[in-house]
Amino acid sequence: MTAPLIDPFARAITYLRVSVTDRCDFRCVYCMSENMTFLPKKELLTLEELDRMCSTFVRLGVQKLRITGGEPLVRRDIMTFFQRMTRHLDSGALKELTLTTNGSQLERFADQLYAAGVRRVNISLDTLDDQKFADITRWGRLPQVLRGIDAAQRAGLRVKINAVALKGFNEEELPAITRWCAERDMDLTWIEVMPMGDIGNEDRLGQYWSLKDVRARYAQHYTVTDLAERTGGPARYVRLEETGQKIGFITPLSHNFCESCNRVRLTCTGELYMCLGQEDMADLRAPLRAHPDSDASLEDAIRAAINLKPKGHDFDYSRQRLDGQMSRHMSHTGG
Ligand code: GTP
Ligand code: 5AD
Ligand code: SF4
Repeated sequence: MTAPLIDPFARAITYLRVSVTDRCDFRCVYCMSENMTFLPKKELLTLEELDRMCSTFVRLGVQKLRITGGEPLVRRDIMTFFQRMTRHLDSGALKELTLTTNGSQLERFADQLYAAGVRRVNISLDTLDDQKFADITRWGRLPQVLRGIDAAQRAGLRVKINAVALKGFNEEELPAITRWCAERDMDLTWIEVMPMGDIGNEDRLGQYWSLKDVRARYAQHYTVTDLAERTGGPARYVRLEETGQKIGFITPLSHNFCESCNRVRLTCTGELYMCLGQEDMADLRAPLRAHPDSDASLEDAIRAAINLKPKGHDFDYSRQRLDGQMSRHMSHTGG
């Protein structure tokens, strides 16, 4: 048995998020600028290399693998990669294989994802209004995503909606989005907007809507009970007693959850980021490529990187300015 990954703050690292591409077919205003420069394709890890990376992490105790991007389903031939990961589910080493997606390609891929062992998908959706959806995603169209959600549910995938809470944008839609998720038996998680990457002329502070307010807003309409339950992700959950619905809150700004962090993130070029909100990273592509026949150096590099995992991020808007701003876009590390 290899020793599991434990960081300097005694946190066991069991969750790997893997960004398989930095590209996306949308341009959400809080995520990207309209004109993005993407990595040349030759910089990317091949699907074989992604397999080796993920399999090494699984051997080192990772139990939850989340595929992200950019939009993971725009990466060419990505189903092959999901199919390869099925063996780790079959062996029992991996407990969950899942992805975070904008939903645009789910109509095409939902059945294949289910067949590969995926049981749950997180789909980003911030509004149910056609025009607002087009405004916020710039290039996205709501009907296509709704068809994707239908396809996912038809395929048997459990759906969780991720909505970024945006002041003056989806505040008024909170009851409608909540009801819509309840009717379709989908979980819903709200996320505070984080200062990641240059997004052009958008006003990040102005976008920020604290989830303390969101929770208070729920309390006006429902009886809200805190739940102890966790999914291994960063969300805290409440139950709305009137509907029985579970609502998640991801609050990097208003309530930092770093003490229970169990995850690291691999970029599509093989950099391992130990924290979403810090610049430290380790290059894993070099040891991977230097030793095609042995993963020993890669394992050493992973352990060394985990030893450098920082205590937490420095995001802070409390002084009415952006502190802890990251130059990296969310699509680089996959959220
Ligand atoms: P579940 O398995 O459903 O709990 O998913 P998850 O919340 O782990 O994954 P998802 O991709 O849905 O994450 C939603 C968002 O939470 C991400 O896009 C990030 O914005 C944010 N998030 C996830 N992990 C971290 C983290 O370690 N730190 C911070 N600050 N935000 C995170
Ligand atoms: N802050 C918070 N969430 C973000 N996302 C993308 N950029 C940001 C940001 N700056 C969200 C997406 C998606 C998830 C992958 O990350 O909406 O739900
Ligand atoms: Fe694409 Fe997701 Fe970023 Fe929107 S938030 S541009 S869907 S990667």
